[in-house]
Amino acid sequence: MKYKPEQLIVALDMAKTGPAMDLVERLNPFGVSFKVGLELYMVGGPKFVSSLVRRGKIFLDLKFHDIPNTTAAAVKRAATLGVSMLNVHASGGREMMSAAREAIEGLDNRPTLLAVTVLTSMNERHLSETGSPGSAEEKVNLLASLAAECGLDGVVCSPLEISSVKKTVSQNFITVTPGIRPAGEAFDDQSRVATPADVARAGGDYLVVGRPITRAQNPVEATRLILIEMGAYDE
Ligand code: C5P
Repeated sequence: MKYKPEQLIVALDMAKTGPAMDLVERLNPFGVSFKVGLELYMVGGPKFVSSLVRRGKIFLDLKFHDIPNTTAAAVKRAATLGVSMLNVHASGGREMMSAAREAIEGLDNRPTLLAVTVLTSMNERHLSETGSPGSAEEKVNLLASLAAECGLDGVVCSPLEISSVKKTVSQNFITVTPGIRPAGEAFDDQSRVATPADVARAGGDYLVVGRPITRAQNPVEATRLILIEMGAYDE
């Protein structure tokens, strides 16, 4: 798999817009993408997202999960900000995902719409405690198939499920994988993790990396090393 730098998505999990923008400015020369999650969205709101969209490719990771009408309306609003990627929870069901997909039909530069399958922090005990006995892989494959039937472009899953999702749905179905840890790094609260090289071997499309970059002593160097491991950095 030959990667472009934009297939590395740096998670801007920060409580203030200033440091987030600083990091964007420092990493932008690499051509990576950025992800805005709930915390940064709560402090920066749509205005901040729009200012990031002017600087690069943005994944708005708000994981919508509500009744179909409410989810579709939120997805439409998010898409009008010009983000490249956004997501809903697959467990919201067929009608919800179909309504979300319908809401962005026909937009110029329609964003990639992803379904979150099983959070990468969840292991089999967590799944069983929340009423889903069985393996994460089974649940991810079930939800990925449903998302594909609803016309979504791909899923957020763990790196460990890339191959089975591609086999179950299709090679073109996009996988976006958080839970990436360069060898020797702490897992933090992630359970189902892999290295950037593992993702490349499995043919994953986008890698989401947060703390290994944002908490690194030198985020620029950490990014460079991950891009090298992905084969996406030409010296
Ligand atoms: O710091 P770390 O690399 O663990 O960050 C992973 C990012 O990916 C976080 O922003 C988290 O919200 C997000 N994410 C995840 N699992 C999912 C979907 C998104 O960890 N299933």
